[in-house]
Amino acid sequence: MFVRNAWYAAAWSHELGDGQLARTILTEPVVLFRTSDGVAHALHDACPHRFAPLSMGKHKGDRIACAYHGLEFDGSGRCIHNPHGKGAIPASLSVRAYPVVERYDMVWVWPGDINQADPAQLPQIPRLEDDAFSWVHGRLHVEADYQLVIDNLLDLTHVEFMHPMLASEGNAARTKFRCEQEGDIVRAFYDVSDEPITGLFQILWENNRKSADLHAYMHWHAPSILYLDTGMVSNEEDGGPKIPTVHFLTPETAETTHYFWAAGRNRGHGNEQVSSMLQFATQNAFETEDEPMIRAVRSRMHSNDLFAHKPALLPMDEAGVRARRILEQRVTAEQS
Ligand code: FES
Ligand SMILES: [Fe+2]
Repeated sequence: MFVRNAWYAAAWSHELGDGQLARTILTEPVVLFRTSDGVAHALHDACPHRFAPLSMGKHKGDRIACAYHGLEFDGSGRCIHNPHGKGAIPASLSVRAYPVVERYDMVWVWPGDINQADPAQLPQIPRLEDDAFSWVHGRLHVEADYQLVIDNLLDLTHVEFMHPMLASEGNAARTKFRCEQEGDIVRAFYDVSDEPITGLFQILWENNRKSADLHAYMHWHAPSILYLDTGMVSNEEDGGPKIPTVHFLTPETAETTHYFWAAGRNRGHGNEQVSSMLQFATQNAFETEDEPMIRAVRSRMHSNDLFAHKPALLPMDEAGVRARRILEQRVTAEQS
């Protein structure tokens, strides 16, 4: 059960480059490629003739040529060259094209009704386009349903127990939590006063300060775009360092998820050492700390229907529960 009428992250712009890339999105094989004007396109990754993956074919400027019998398709999915006989092209010879928009250094694909695809529906994330911040990017593959990743991101009380770089002992008990919902947006706010400077923030902190107020405000936009506004604020300095992150989740199948992330910073611009430390620390936390736990959680469930398992609910589950209810409503509305 997926929300289909939504923009899903398909590839970082630099991953696609000028080439072609195959990626499964909501169980559908998709091939991405760019035409010579730089515009990204997404086609169903199966030739209409004998279903050879077009991603096995050749990318020739504005078209992609099937590797099996050579039919060529343009960015709209129309067959524009048939190398056989007189080269007749039946009107039905085309492949499904998905709406694509490129923003925030990301190629977004719309798997639902093409008439509803509106670029304005991408959430506004001003920090991603703010020159005061520089960003590093990453990607991982999660062996679990995307909703378990949303649960993980909306409940940041796991940080003390799973991420030694991100919190110190007693953080969960010291944290004040509150949750808000506005339409299809859920926000989870975590505040801690006078928290020891975490390992992650030490990367950006230039003096020997020992503690500061920590905030982590997670914003979830249905179905699976998350933005975390986080920083350690010191009143004595210029507002303190901030390390906002984005988390773009795209179901690959019912049991696997593409997880794209980016981490920004308001200090140390152009410093390659800071960039690589931030890249490593973030990728490492998601890939070696969160992902194995999310996968293990799934191994103890008999389906992706969390509520069918009658989970114990704690106050900080409010955000995750709200998100699941919204997703249920969206899927039901689409299906009717
Ligand atoms: S399968 Fe693509 S041209 Fe035959
Ligand atoms: Fe985590």
